[in-house]
Amino acid sequence: FLHKVVLGIETSCDDTAAAVVDETGNVLGEAIHSQTEVHLKTGGIVPPVAQQLHRENIERIVQEALSASGISPGDLSAIATTIKPGLALSLGVGLSFSKQLVNQWKKPFIPIHHMEAHALTIRLTNQVEFPFLVLLISGGHCLLALVRGVSDFLLLGKSLDIAPGDMFDKVARRLSLTKHPECSSMSGGKAIEHLAKQGNRFHFDISPPMHRVKNCDFSFTGLQHVTEKIITKKEKEEGIEKGQVLSSAADLAAAVQHTAACHIAKRTHRAILFCQQRQWLSQSHAVLVVSGGVASNFYIRRALEIVTDATQCTLLCPPPRLCTDNGVMIAWYRMDYSQTLRQDAVKQSGWRKEGP
Ligand code: KG4
Ligand code: ZN
Repeated sequence: FLHKVVLGIETSCDDTAAAVVDETGNVLGEAIHSQTEVHLKTGGIVPPVAQQLHRENIERIVQEALSASGISPGDLSAIATTIKPGLALSLGVGLSFSKQLVNQWKKPFIPIHHMEAHALTIRLTNQVEFPFLVLLISGGHCLLALVRGVSDFLLLGKSLDIAPGDMFDKVARRLSLTKHPECSSMSGGKAIEHLAKQGNRFHFDISPPMHRVKNCDFSFTGLQHVTEKIITKKEKEEGIEKGQVLSSAADLAAAVQHTAACHIAKRTHRAILFCQQRQWLSQSHAVLVVSGGVASNFYIRRALEIVTDATQCTLLCPPPRLCTDNGVMIAWYRMDYSQTLRQDAVKQSGWRKEGP
């Protein structure tokens, strides 16, 4: 007897990823190609470049995941692929490649919503019952949602502009952190976290965004612009050319990280209280799932822990390799779906926006 086995393919942004997962949640094989280094050089993702890199790597990555799994294509139950949301050019590569496989191997095709897959990943590693709250924070995502069931999401808040990882990347670029000897190959966010440990946040006063706006939305461009202004001012003071690293870079990193952490924690706190007041979440054992590349930041996690401690919530993060874009969550999504359909008779309302 063979378990149901699904091949998952993910190309929505800058990672080419594939995985083979069985219905018990075993990851039989996985492979990923990250484009981060290339995009670090160009200072951001250039969609046609991302598309080209996906094209160059997708066949090898899918082959690697399949070989590692020891599953022959004929034994696959289906092929799942991210269809939205994401960069159209990047999504297209995964989609046309998987369509090709679907035809060649005569397998069912499962279209996957990238955000829903992120939100449900936690159920691969932890026993989390619905409903739970999810905070997705990465370079491309920033949202708070109540997950009431598979395909039953209530959007409580989202970024009105850019995502926090994007803000960190832009500030890191403006600080020329790739030229910093300790941070040369780190993503912007990781470089900021690394430097912040050596800095003193009290040397700069950056006020939190949307202070007076009483909802669960986020904003990070204001924070980016304020920080960039400080950098320009400091460059003049220190007599530094554009492109050199400021001597106060660590202090500034600490300040911007602190302000971002406070902003994220406050919006999350409001979302928890809002849901608890309406009894959408338990007062005593609610779960907050935090995922996305920015979730690997320990300073931000600590800020969120303070919030979850104060509201009797449990804070859960998928392991780092499942926090960022990956093929496993794509392969797993629909299997979780079919199990849940039987258990909870899920309503299929999709993404509805509601919130304070
Ligand atoms: O989830 P992810 O790999 O890709 C997507 O954006 O979809 O997240 C990457 C983002 C980048 O913007 C990166 O700067 C940020 O996550 N990031 C961090 C940290 N590690 C990665 N941000 C803050 N602190 C970190 N330690
Ligand atoms: Zn993602």
